[in-house]
Amino acid sequence: MPPYTLAHSVLAMDEPSDPGGTGPATGAPHTPPRQRGGDKRLVGPRAPSADMLKERKGLLELVRLSRDNVLNVIPAATLSRRILSGRVLRRVHLVADPEANRKVFKSNIDNYPKSPETKGILRKALRHGLFVLDGDDWRWQRRALNPAFAPRNIRKLGPLMSRVAEESSERLADADGSVNISDEMMRTAFDVIVRVTFAGGDGQSAVPVDVVSRAIEHYLDKTGRVSLLDYLGLPGWVPRPGRLRTHPTLKALKAGADKAIADRRKTPNTRDAALIDLLMDVEDPETGRKMNDEELRDNLITFLIAGHETTALTLSWALYLLAHAPAKHSKATEEAVRVLGSRTATVEDVGQLEYVRKVLYEAMRLFPPIPVHLRTAQREDSLCEHAVKPGDTVIVPFYSLHRHKKHWKSPNCFVPERFDNMARIDRYTYMPFSVGPRICIGAEFAMQESIIILATLLARFRFSGVEGRAPKPKLILTLRPDEDIRLKVEPLAAEAAAGEGA
Ligand code: HEM
Repeated sequence: MPPYTLAHSVLAMDEPSDPGGTGPATGAPHTPPRQRGGDKRLVGPRAPSADMLKERKGLLELVRLSRDNVLNVIPAATLSRRILSGRVLRRVHLVADPEANRKVFKSNIDNYPKSPETKGILRKALRHGLFVLDGDDWRWQRRALNPAFAPRNIRKLGPLMSRVAEESSERLADADGSVNISDEMMRTAFDVIVRVTFAGGDGQSAVPVDVVSRAIEHYLDKTGRVSLLDYLGLPGWVPRPGRLRTHPTLKALKAGADKAIADRRKTPNTRDAALIDLLMDVEDPETGRKMNDEELRDNLITFLIAGHETTALTLSWALYLLAHAPAKHSKATEEAVRVLGSRTATVEDVGQLEYVRKVLYEAMRLFPPIPVHLRTAQREDSLCEHAVKPGDTVIVPFYSLHRHKKHWKSPNCFVPERFDNMARIDRYTYMPFSVGPRICIGAEFAMQESIIILATLLARFRFSGVEGRAPKPKLILTLRPDEDIRLKVEPLAAEAAAGEGA
């Protein structure tokens, strides 16, 4: 029998040493209480929120709840406490505190490598990719890859992003009645990432698009699923749903990527560079080491997976929030129309689309696409005055941090204006792309892409809600709506003609 017992099956959390989490944050004074006080602009419509855990439950019940939505088993107390420590089969600390984040993600990062569970399927399937590597293996790849994601290279990808935005807008123009925005944004983000990753000079993907889409669909539907079993670290023999790392779709994708790499080695692409071309050239500035074909392939596929759904979800939630906040929608539309007229946004416009950027920031605050992070402590430490021992799991729910009562005024309300003054936003309190050395390498890419797409759509269409219940955020590896987001989409000109001008 396995060495665990259901006798431990309670989520018994100690009270923190600072019960209400309302005392002063310890340490450096870079964490002033943000956005509290009398700023009257910080009001807005309420965004959907998750049903978090309000009382103790047995393990079986927790497993049942988490199968549907892992957020259901994150205690609601993380929205107001700095830390909750306890034992759920092993010692666990749930941390929602900027000072602790600074330690975990920056100053003591070597003590907190990603837990195996957090790497999920990528750990075995794409083990030479940046996302799952640690230590020196990670360090040299990150040094080598950073220049490929430098702003000057990301800007070069602008025309392709604009083309995809235009195509999405054409599809929406043809749509009738309510539109499945979740599907449309998945398709759009997919088109960007596949073409950016594998396109040749002709703009077409060197790996057949249906091969990529089948593999990603499979990954997102099944393989990426995380259950409480993963979070609790039950033994590997316990059957998990959808753990199919050697599925034929992934094998086909790897084979396609291998072929694309071999073809490029034979015949280099001399026209617009895609990521595949940039990666073939990267080398470690310290040692001159280059990537071998396996490393290259695992990274290309990692980018497809890491960069696809995250961006699609940000765009879907942003459109949902705007559709249910007419005044904010009008403000964003006015900006888009002022900057673009009705043309497609380009990379040159991105700097002027300030409010559109804030809408995206706020969407990622309320719905961080990767909402929970797990780290495993290697040595003794302390977080928020709680002792951390080797082997302890540190869970950082960005979802709770981003809606924490101590740090955000009207935390559940959609207020893009809270980003008017970025100097007031603490980087360890708001971190949708994470923070420190392992910050998302694609953050610049994702923002540029999302601004181009969202502004293009806002300059042409008005989005509004349809009848039905509001979607709830649901954590299955990423933070998805529990039902597809559907919105009514109307051309802006028609709406203006009807006298409802933006
Ligand atoms: C809105 C979109 C995105 C969000 C919110 C996001 C968020 C994140 C977060 C939170 C991490 C840290 C994960 C961890 O520490 O466990 C991360 C890492 C990463 N992201 Fe993104 N991401 C986005 C888009 C992208 C895009 C477009 C790409 C690639 C083109 C990308 C590639 C990566 C990679 C390779 C890593 C691992 C970096 C490392 O460990 O050094 N992401 N992302």
